[in-house]
Amino acid sequence: MIRIPTGIPGLDNMIEGGLPRPSLTLLAGDAGAGKTTFCTQFLCKGADLGEHCLYLLTFGRPSDLQINYATSYEFVKSAYFGKEICYLELEEMVEKACRSRDFLDILEREIDTLNPTRIVIENLSILEEVLKDEYWRFLLKLSHLIKTKAVVTLVAEDAQPGIPYPANIAQVADGIILLQNETINFARRRSIEILKMCGTSHHLGKHAVDISVKGLVVYPGL
Ligand SMILES: Nc1ncnc2c1ncn2[C@@H]1O[C@H](COP(=O)(O)OP(=O)(O)O)[C@@H](O)[C@H]1O
Ligand SMILES: [Mg+2]
Repeated sequence: MIRIPTGIPGLDNMIEGGLPRPSLTLLAGDAGAGKTTFCTQFLCKGADLGEHCLYLLTFGRPSDLQINYATSYEFVKSAYFGKEICYLELEEMVEKACRSRDFLDILEREIDTLNPTRIVIENLSILEEVLKDEYWRFLLKLSHLIKTKAVVTLVAEDAQPGIPYPANIAQVADGIILLQNETINFARRRSIEILKMCGTSHHLGKHAVDISVKGLVVYPGL
């Protein structure tokens, strides 16, 4: 199996060296748990290795602002954005595409043009409201597209009260990673848990995570 490194110190050793290629991994967690940071590290690692990356940005946040935030991390080189890391606004794609078929066509065209190794999609579940009955079929086709184009994709989703991750995305995902930012004994503790990863003998349970200007660092076993 081909694997690509996530770029997150401590994590790759827990998953036999990296994420399988191709695969779709759901990265879910509470607000502030580190999803965007994780995704940024993943994309910058790809850029460091000379890979092409595609970043589908969240609704309602201008890409220049997102990049501005991202560059506060040590590992981000702003020159990557628009070059190794191309971004598309999900909102703009939705305006052009009112049916799932159109949306997938736009995405496929972008993949064929850019030939990315890595794709990040933040808040994909927002499309559920747009695509309604077509959403489930859309997820199946998206997962299929990612496999045929040999891409490693991260889908980052916010946890909802009482629902740790969206079940429908989990059903089409090859891997599920949970990030948490919980209060334990009056202290905030960050953790990562690999719930599943196809074809991978991975560590189980929660492991400590730290976030600094260096991004996420995982401490396996802690
Ligand atoms: N440049 C930075 N340096 C250090 N810590 C940061 C920086 N940017 C964000 N953080 C920390 O990382 C946390 C998680 O941010 P983020 O990855 O955006 O979480 P999520 O996307 O899961 O909501 C922030 O709340 C903050 O505590
Ligand atoms: Mg975020």
